[in-house]
Amino acid sequence: MVKTAVLGYGTVGSGIVEVIKTNQEMVNKKAGVDIDVKYILDLRDFPGDPYENLVVHDVEAILNDEEVSIVCEAMGGIEPAYTFSKRALMAGKSVCTSNKELVAKHGPELIQIARENNCNYLFEASVGGGIPIIRPINSSLTPERIEAITGILNGTTNYILTKMEREGSDFSEVLKEAQEKGYAERNPEADVEGYDACRKIAILSSLVYGKTVNFEDIYTEGITKISTRDFAYMKQIDSTIKLLGMSRYVDGKYFAMVAPFVIGRDNALYSVNDVFNAILVKGNTLGETMYYGKGAGKLPTASAVVSDVIDCAKHVGKNIFCFWDPEKLQLAGIEDAKRRFFVRVEGSDKAKAEAAFGKVSFLDAGFSDETGFITEVMSEKEYKEKAEAAGNVISMIRVEE
Ligand code: HSE
Repeated sequence: MVKTAVLGYGTVGSGIVEVIKTNQEMVNKKAGVDIDVKYILDLRDFPGDPYENLVVHDVEAILNDEEVSIVCEAMGGIEPAYTFSKRALMAGKSVCTSNKELVAKHGPELIQIARENNCNYLFEASVGGGIPIIRPINSSLTPERIEAITGILNGTTNYILTKMEREGSDFSEVLKEAQEKGYAERNPEADVEGYDACRKIAILSSLVYGKTVNFEDIYTEGITKISTRDFAYMKQIDSTIKLLGMSRYVDGKYFAMVAPFVIGRDNALYSVNDVFNAILVKGNTLGETMYYGKGAGKLPTASAVVSDVIDCAKHVGKNIFCFWDPEKLQLAGIEDAKRRFFVRVEGSDKAKAEAAFGKVSFLDAGFSDETGFITEVMSEKEYKEKAEAAGNVISMIRVEE
């Protein structure tokens, strides 16, 4: 029998208990040992909950109980999750987490502590919710030199963009729906400003490149400036707008960024809608592979945490190697990255637009007070200079080729 404790009985924490209990027989069979939830840590009481008798308020009860060998951290945020995880690992207890904020900030240190204590720090649920992506990177794509990762990594923003496109819905109304469905972060700014996707691409990049990509170094833009007018233009070119997290290894340099992108129907990510996430990973000999599934929500995320619990139960006293060292990876700046840009400028003067941006392809979405177009390929630096000189840019969205 393996005893676990769940830290935090919110959306994900209660989901973890539900997945284990619902699929108890399957979980036990796959782990090769019976898995039991012994404690639930939360500041609150849960009168009437079927597992209210498991609730404790003091983490010491868990950390000092030698019977507990696996801890599921579903508290979110940095503290006290960091201290509790560190102490659990130092006591030889494996930790399974959905906490991308903590993994992005202290992942390398916690992985190292797990190594030193013959236990594991696993974080399948930290990227892509229920999508298996960490385990494939760690165990299946191992012979590959990964050249590119491109992903829709945030369920809340994908849900919002899908509704804006399909129903012309109001941004704040759709955000409220996403919050009610348990997709959004406690502070939804993390979703809509791209910070959540930024942490996830930092985690994925660190895992594939083997060194630490600091999330603070990643250029990040969210979706708060995307409007229904943008989608009207997209209809003219059979395209849509997605918030992408991407990282690239080109000519010995590493690039990473998070921003909304225009993508065409022929892009594999075009049809990834609602709360779904998808991640394209390109290896130098394998080519492109794609991972798809529900990127947020109680049970999909909890299922990913439980997959880690099963892995830990199969590796008691043994560390599963993780290719992620604390050494910092230097990212190149984005100013030299070249691409086309979808631009909207004030007024209807097409000649003025071409004078400012060079040869462009105009799009007609039926608005008389503005002009929309797609530029030729140019660097970020060139675009910025031209936009500043033009002085009438309403918005710009990058085009993913
Ligand atoms: N708020 C996150 C999202 C939850 O919407 O994707 C899953 O990490």
